Amino acid sequence: MAHLHACATAGINVALVKYWGKRDAALNLPAVGSLSLTLAEPGTKTNVTFCESLAEDRLVLNSELQKSAKISGLLNGIREIAGLKLFADIESTNTVPTAAGLASSASGFAALGLAAWSAAGLPWNPENPDPRLLDLVRIGSGSAPRSLFGGFVLLDRDSGRPHPLHSELDVALVVTVLSDAQKSVSSRDGMTLTAQTSPYYPAFVAEHEAELKDAQESLKSNNFKRLGEATERSTIRMHACMWASNPPLRYLTHRSLQVIEAVESLRQSGLACYFTIDAGPHVKVLCLRRDATEVCERLKPLADRVSIALPGHGARLIEE
Ligand code: PMV
Repeated sequence: MAHLHACATAGINVALVKYWGKRDAALNLPAVGSLSLTLAEPGTKTNVTFCESLAEDRLVLNSELQKSAKISGLLNGIREIAGLKLFADIESTNTVPTAAGLASSASGFAALGLAAWSAAGLPWNPENPDPRLLDLVRIGSGSAPRSLFGGFVLLDRDSGRPHPLHSELDVALVVTVLSDAQKSVSSRDGMTLTAQTSPYYPAFVAEHEAELKDAQESLKSNNFKRLGEATERSTIRMHACMWASNPPLRYLTHRSLQVIEAVESLRQSGLACYFTIDAGPHVKVLCLRRDATEVCERLKPLADRVSIALPGHGARLIEE
């Protein structure tokens, strides 16, 4: 039965206007919207086969059998929609390097969701994905639905669903890796702590809508400087409100600050580039594609590794 197998790929994405905090933990709905860039590489490739011989779902990630993967919510949802009773055999390869400072959960859940959806015989339209798939992918990871679309993507606060955004801006992200240590607080736990204890969190939420509008306007008018400034403000506000949590939550290190300072001085010297940082110390630098090699060279002395990531398409089905 050919339709019980499918293979999908998805690239990771990086938020330029960040979300932090949930308004519904069970549905994993964000407290605020977000605006991201999906990258061509790195990403995830996932094969799903629904089999009669399995007594439970089985996930092999990068050749290792996973014991406690949080995938049953997504798979149960798909089985229910498709009226399918079989368990899934999943083989997934992540090209996101360990400790690259790029969350692999977004590409992971996007590729798994699409492969399982299609293996279950459900129809996929990349321009207009079924909203039920978007919702199920989001329950896996709040940022994952954004990886179903390519390029710039808006995740709407109210629906919790992503929409692609058009822009002529030809950008790249220069990714600095500043540590190989695993993060000590997951983003889920960090969000709960910040929302419950940081006096600055309500201000972050209150300002957020205006931030998102500003970034969307900058895309519409192809205004890179305005996009970059919105990107930096979003990062600073998110990390400032985390830092004011009790106990304080701080993902930035002195090495992150060194890269921030270097970005500021590159900008003063006339190179348009802007930093963004997620729940970890690593700094990603937004620049125009034509400047990416120079930014990369200039930041090399400050990082363990530096690479250039370019925008990519959304999740895709491939023959395998
Ligand atoms: O994907 P999640 O739900 O673990 O959260 C991602 C949080 C940030 O990367 C810090 C911000 C974002 O919008 O991606």
